[in-house]
Amino acid sequence: MTNHDLLNIAKTYGDPVYVYDSEKIIAQFNRLTNAFSGVKKLKLNYAAKALSNITILKLMNSLGSGLDTVSIQEVQLGLLAGFKPENIIFTPNGVSLEEIEEAAKLGVRINIDNLSILEQFGSKFPKVPVCIRINPHVMAGGNSNISVGHIDSKFGISIHQIPHLLRIVELTQMHINGIHMHTGSDILDIDVFLYASEILFETAKNFKELDFIDFGSGFKVPYKEGDIETNIEELGSKLTEKFNAFCKEYGKELTLAFEPGKFLVSEAGQFLAKVNVVKQTTSTVFASIDSGFNHLIRPMLYGSYHQIENISNPEGRERYYSVVGYICETDTFASNRRITEISEGDILTFKNAGAYCFTMASNYNSRFRPAEVLWHKGEAVLIRERETLEDIIKNQVDVKNLFSKKEKATAK
Ligand SMILES: Cc1ncc(COP(=O)(O)O)c(C=O)c1O
Repeated sequence: MTNHDLLNIAKTYGDPVYVYDSEKIIAQFNRLTNAFSGVKKLKLNYAAKALSNITILKLMNSLGSGLDTVSIQEVQLGLLAGFKPENIIFTPNGVSLEEIEEAAKLGVRINIDNLSILEQFGSKFPKVPVCIRINPHVMAGGNSNISVGHIDSKFGISIHQIPHLLRIVELTQMHINGIHMHTGSDILDIDVFLYASEILFETAKNFKELDFIDFGSGFKVPYKEGDIETNIEELGSKLTEKFNAFCKEYGKELTLAFEPGKFLVSEAGQFLAKVNVVKQTTSTVFASIDSGFNHLIRPMLYGSYHQIENISNPEGRERYYSVVGYICETDTFASNRRITEISEGDILTFKNAGAYCFTMASNYNSRFRPAEVLWHKGEAVLIRERETLEDIIKNQVDVKNLFSKKEKATAK
């Protein structure tokens, strides 16, 4: 996809707009699959939360991916996208027993991450197989908000609670079919996976009827040219060896599962936004775009880096800019960034905008959420229309005659 294609997309569908490249998604899927080609049974369950447009889900389904979901709505979306229930895993945190029951009734696989719900679910549905999410107490992840496998984390069942877990399983006679962990996002060091895998293998020995071990996700992707990333190929060869050895010891060919989000879609996405104002102050030059953290919150939420390029003037001389949004709080996308000279009306592209970007977008400031476009086989396909005022007002109840004209006079 060239800058010319991107500019055409912004012109045709308006800006701001999200654009995803299907070829990149497919390439990432194949890369991960190839890295683990030495494992007999591999299952990738795409983490829907990263980018949940139904067309993206359909693409994943067509690649043979499963789906990792964290809410009943994601489960329903997955079914609508054509995933078979057995190819969907429900991995929620802190949701009600009712929500888990609803997912179980839809026939999807269940992953439980606390003993209270495990006991209740197991007592009620001892025949429904359940995977358990273990907290291996490993500190990993690029930021405290996305480090979820450590001892203070709310996620998973602590490895120190295995005796209690086993008691629940024995008393309820429930069937544990999988062991799962997910320790964080943006994990660079493959030793984290390898170390945590040992803990999972140890835990797995307690269960005799396993079908799979799910190593979660958290692979770090590059955010700019020359950036470091998780060495997937090295992880593939080292973990494959450990996993195959474990299967031999366990006496069964288990499925090795992952649930990647960012790895599959981050680099495939770009966010295009127009510069409304170039404002020179005493200390800096601001480029204010027609967007804000209502559309792309990652830089403000966890300081994530998005490379920004001026695709309207890619050959211009570089200057330093602070790129900011139009929201009524500070919403800085980048400070003192070298970008080719910006004029008002230019289109900027934000790279790595496939994962956790649109899915975190909101209507804050009563702004519309942007359109989404898929670049597929050399053509732009609209996969979500830009919202309109009707979308903003849709569920609001305009109560007639609630306030009398005298309201102001009678207020104390
Ligand atoms: C349980 C679980 N699995 C998978 C993922 C996907 O992680 P990533 O996008 O880093 O691949 C997440 C992300 O938060 C998660 O919470």
